[in-house]
Amino acid sequence: MCDDPHDHEVESIMSSTSCQSCTIWSMGQPKLLEPREDVTVEQAQARIDELYASGIPFFTKQAIQELWDQIQSKPTSGDRIVTKDLTGASLEWKVKLGKSIELRSSEDRDARHEFIYKILGVNYRSAAHLKGGFRWGEVGSEAYAPMQLMHQLCKADSSSENKETIPDDPIGERDDVARDFQKSAEDWENTETCKNLKSILRSFASGHPINKIIGFACGSLALPNNHHVSVQTALLVTVRNWLKERYNDSDVSCYIQDPMNTSVDKEVLADIGFEMIDDPRGWLEVDERSFVLSVAPNVPVKEIIADIARPAIAVWYKVEEEDTASTDPSTPRVREMIEGYDLHEFASDNDDFKTVVIYIRKSEIPPTPNPDGTFFTPTGKSDKLDSE
Ligand SMILES: C[S@@+](CC[C@H](N)C(=O)[O-])C[C@H]1O[C@@H](n2cnc3c(N)ncnc32)[C@H](O)[C@@H]1O
Repeated sequence: MCDDPHDHEVESIMSSTSCQSCTIWSMGQPKLLEPREDVTVEQAQARIDELYASGIPFFTKQAIQELWDQIQSKPTSGDRIVTKDLTGASLEWKVKLGKSIELRSSEDRDARHEFIYKILGVNYRSAAHLKGGFRWGEVGSEAYAPMQLMHQLCKADSSSENKETIPDDPIGERDDVARDFQKSAEDWENTETCKNLKSILRSFASGHPINKIIGFACGSLALPNNHHVSVQTALLVTVRNWLKERYNDSDVSCYIQDPMNTSVDKEVLADIGFEMIDDPRGWLEVDERSFVLSVAPNVPVKEIIADIARPAIAVWYKVEEEDTASTDPSTPRVREMIEGYDLHEFASDNDDFKTVVIYIRKSEIPPTPNPDGTFFTPTGKSDKLDSE
């Protein structure tokens, strides 16, 4: 139960699981600031299809910047954050940071634990996710909102007076994490996959101006089960070293965005020249001179980037013909973006990169975005998106 007896706002609890951790999020329902006619789920789904086919960007740097500015202004419990949805309507989201809620334990239905609304997060909804996300057959106020505010819930330490939270998983010590990463990075440098990557970059991307590296959703080096994290971070270091060699050691900005990262990650990443940045800043950094890596993200990275940028290189799962159900779907817009890229395989039997490929933009010259900062060109095709 919320500790504010007047707080009857509907919210749902979602857990986001990776092999490293399970994060619990509370999804509130925003207040619609302009009245809207009630519609059925089918009508709302048809509207989402229409909006998608019309070419309207679901994600824009302007909308992300506006949200980021509000998050950075350090709102406290009771403050409101306002976003606009795809129809242009304003949505008001209530900030609950610091408040608490009691949740039933998943292991023992009779046990309850206190959780604190700890961190603000963004629930990114691709068109397919929006269409499949109608709870209880109702069209809520967030029906057309591709960016929805949510709160990360952390278990409260009932013995502490100041509502301290208990980390779910053991976070490694800085020196151990740094040493383990160095070892993994050396192992990675000796793999065929790394050698192939360097050769592909030298042969096909030497003419692309690149001054930024952004790694999304790599996971946490400081949490257990971090083999993939280490390999993906080591790959980013390889790319940084390639760029430094190419540009005679001039500056390359290197960023990592994953809400799972801890203060230990921040220090270890800083030591290797990477800045750990908060969601949603990473999207604002991606541009036409960027190298982007994103493997198995819990967010629709490809769909967001297809709307806002044309990075020089994107390393991510191969774009499939038909896939709208995954957390990072290959949608018509993603497929259209990828037409401007050449695909290169890692050409190795390394399990870590079996389904990951390298997309290098066909044009070495950075393309110019549309006046609204987006890249999507409406085709007039009314591509139907299957629901989740
Ligand atoms: C299934 S894990 C994949 C981790 C790793 N890349 C791998 O290959 O094992 C999904 C990751 O997406 C991250 N993630 C979720 N929301 C994100 C966001 N808004 N920006 C960046 N990463 C995010 C999660 O924290 C988690 O580490």
